[in-house]
Amino acid sequence: MYQMENLNENQVAYPMPRIGDAAPEFQAVTTQGNINFPADYKGNWVILFSHPADFTPVCTSEFMTFATMEEKFAEANCKLVGLSVDGLYSHIAWLLTIKEKIEYRDMKNVEVKFPLIEDISMNVAKKYGMIQPGESSTQAVRAVFIIDPKGVIRTIIYYPLSLGRNFDELYRALVALQAADAFGVATPADWRPGDDVIISPAGSCGKAKDRMEGKEEELDCKDWFFCTKKISKEEVLEKVLKK
Ligand code: BEZ
Repeated sequence: MYQMENLNENQVAYPMPRIGDAAPEFQAVTTQGNINFPADYKGNWVILFSHPADFTPVCTSEFMTFATMEEKFAEANCKLVGLSVDGLYSHIAWLLTIKEKIEYRDMKNVEVKFPLIEDISMNVAKKYGMIQPGESSTQAVRAVFIIDPKGVIRTIIYYPLSLGRNFDELYRALVALQAADAFGVATPADWRPGDDVIISPAGSCGKAKDRMEGKEEELDCKDWFFCTKKISKEEVLEKVLKK
């Protein structure tokens, strides 16, 4: 019945963008006016993220956390854009309630200044694979798309409705992507600025031998295919965060 074998009805109905794809284009109404995505964000990194619904507790804790970190993301040349399948007036009322009434952990009087897309039609949510019917057919899952200044999707993370995201990890991923681009390296597990980075594996037997014999002095090779090098925290901060 479906064109591609082994796909069920839901998978065919809601295609998923992939890492390396151009971010799907859309125009939308937001709490900060209309946007033309991703064209309006060209030259910036952007995190497009969805949440299930306004006036819900996990989402409220997430919005307060993200809004509190907005300046930190801005310093890494990254703008934030939220989305749910609620309407504009619900968004406005919820954000006002957060600012006026909600105290959570050490956060209060939190103003969400980044745009929150109204997507009652689910037009955007469907384009980005944010509606995952096995989880909910009426609410978006907690999706995160990290999109680079050329409008290319570089990282995708999905969480279910009940699981609040770790925003320190989103920031870590953003800086790691930027560092990988800036220095032409990869970053190992749990990498943070100042930790050693990973260089491309040797592409020839000669290079592999040289590395094992320690001929590339700046490298620390665990084996021919696994070499790291130092990039100081200061270098990363200067090049990536321009500090
Ligand atoms: C919440 O944000 O609290 C939430 C939203 C949808 C389902 C479960 C929890």
